Amino acid sequence: MQFFLSSLLLLPMLIICILESLLKLFIPKKKKSVTGEIVLITGAGHGIGRLTAYEFAKLKSKLVLWDINKHGVEETAAECRKLGAKAYAFVVDCSNREDIYSSAKKVKAEVGNVSILVNNAGVVYPADLFATQDPQIEKTFEVNVLAHFWTTKAFLPEMMKCNHGHIVTVASAAGHTVVPFLVTYCSSKFAAVGFHRALTVELAALERNGIKTSCLCPNFINTGFIKNPSTSLGPTLEPEEVVNKLMNGILTEQKMIFVPSSISFLTMVERIFPERFMTILKRKMNIRFDAIIGYKN
Ligand SMILES: NC(=O)c1ccc[n+]([C@@H]2O[C@H](COP(=O)([O-])OP(=O)(O)OC[C@H]3O[C@@H](n4cnc5c(N)ncnc54)[C@H](O)[C@@H]3O)[C@@H](O)[C@H]2O)c1
Ligand SMILES: *[C@@H]1O[C@H](CO)[C@@H](O)[C@H](O)[C@H]1NC(C)=O
Repeated sequence: MQFFLSSLLLLPMLIICILESLLKLFIPKKKKSVTGEIVLITGAGHGIGRLTAYEFAKLKSKLVLWDINKHGVEETAAECRKLGAKAYAFVVDCSNREDIYSSAKKVKAEVGNVSILVNNAGVVYPADLFATQDPQIEKTFEVNVLAHFWTTKAFLPEMMKCNHGHIVTVASAAGHTVVPFLVTYCSSKFAAVGFHRALTVELAALERNGIKTSCLCPNFINTGFIKNPSTSLGPTLEPEEVVNKLMNGILTEQKMIFVPSSISFLTMVERIFPERFMTILKRKMNIRFDAIIGYKN
């Protein structure tokens, strides 16, 4: 009670903050320069990771590209070099902590200190809980969230020393809102969103305001990651559109990037509207994709 009464005194401050953020909506944000920065992208052998590498290459960053797929990551590196950037490809299994730590050592010795880290590698096994194998559940958490801990622990210390850097988390709309037959994936992406948010406040508590964080939360994207996705919310996103929003978000140091931006509205509405209404609304969204259903009555 005491807390709420004393909080009332903050009302004028609330109004000032709301006006400030409304005003900011109309002022175009300046994009920062990433020329010469060492950018590490995991899962850079295909899809979002690959296209993000191309964008940083065009901006003359130095690229460190990680993927478990040797052919894919080497192809991405070759294309980045064609775009005029230095690029180093590494075969790394992001589900393996030791592999991450030893590869990070190699990167520091052979390339230098990473100042922009993009944790993008991800896996998904669409199925009901009964049809999801235990090793698949472990793999999902290892790649989609635990890897973020190991890469961040490996590269954040140098960023802390010079109070300069950026940690990017590629999560998902499934890190905010839930769908059946993606129980494992949703929980791992909720964890990734939690990692991003808690790390953000921890960096602030440690007064490292020069280290930025961004989190990407997109709806279905046309990369083949999830097979045959569809929803009445709109067409499946093209990877170029998502990467465009991601780059804009990173360069303007946006903390949460929803694609499409209506996802942000949906997550807000979900917390306010009655459950029964949300069930009806979700049915109308008609979210579909290929999944293994192992449960039999
Ligand atoms: N495609 C979508 O519908 C969608 C929607 C929301 C979020 N996302 C997220 O975007 C990210 C990128 O997905 P995408 O659509 O580009 O998928 P993708 O399959 O095209 O690319 C993922 C890349 O990660 C690599 N990878 C997988 N396991 C790895 C491991 N253990 N170690 C290293 N690399 C590994 C793959 O080899 C591949 O090159 C993922 O984190 C995914 O969860 C995707
Ligand atoms: C990387 O960071 C370490 C620790 O801050 C520093 O000693 C070293 O000189 C840096 N290396 C380069 C190439 O900048």
